[in-house]
Amino acid sequence: MNKAKPFLFLIGSFLLLLCSFRNIPSNYAINQSQNWLSPSWADTLVGPNLTNPSFIQAGKSVYLGHCIVCHGANGKGDGESGFGLEVPPGDFTDAFTLNESDGALFWKITTGRGPMPPFLNKLSDNQRWQVVAYLRELQRNHKAKIRKTKIRKK
Ligand code: HEC
Repeated sequence: MNKAKPFLFLIGSFLLLLCSFRNIPSNYAINQSQNWLSPSWADTLVGPNLTNPSFIQAGKSVYLGHCIVCHGANGKGDGESGFGLEVPPGDFTDAFTLNESDGALFWKITTGRGPMPPFLNKLSDNQRWQVVAYLRELQRNHKAKIRKTKIRKK
């Protein structure tokens, strides 16, 4: 009986190990299907005045040059290069992105994930804030459009 103990212990640990492996997402797609979360410190990042019209306008040209291909003209994730990616680019006008802080969006644009490239070395800090300002503009335009269609229906 005493001799069997270490053997049973080994078998037990091996089985535990097997079980724990099953919880590790085995491929990229499963891992990426969850909402992309930013670290909480990203919420404390504060940019320049994001409602300044010329700043938003500058963000629009950054967006047209670097983002529209995947994210689409209205930020709905329907750009021509956005289709067929292993992870869809998502919709900037959905509740998840609406509720994110400016800093969280800035952080995501800086670091990227999966098919979303990092822009740390492609865009300056200022340009990344400009494009955050333009994302907010796209969200406002979307809200305004919804309001209009509601009024028309009445
Ligand atoms: C090659 C395609 C591609 C390009 C170009 C691209 N993105 Fe993305 N983007 C993605 C994909 C795919 C995701 C989703 C990544 C994930 O969830 O893992 C994403 C996610 C994001 C998110 C996170 C949305 C959220 O709420 O979680 C932001 C913000 C974003 N992109 C902004 C931008 C901006 C701004 C640019 C241009 C400077 C840009 N992206 C260029 C493909 C792209």
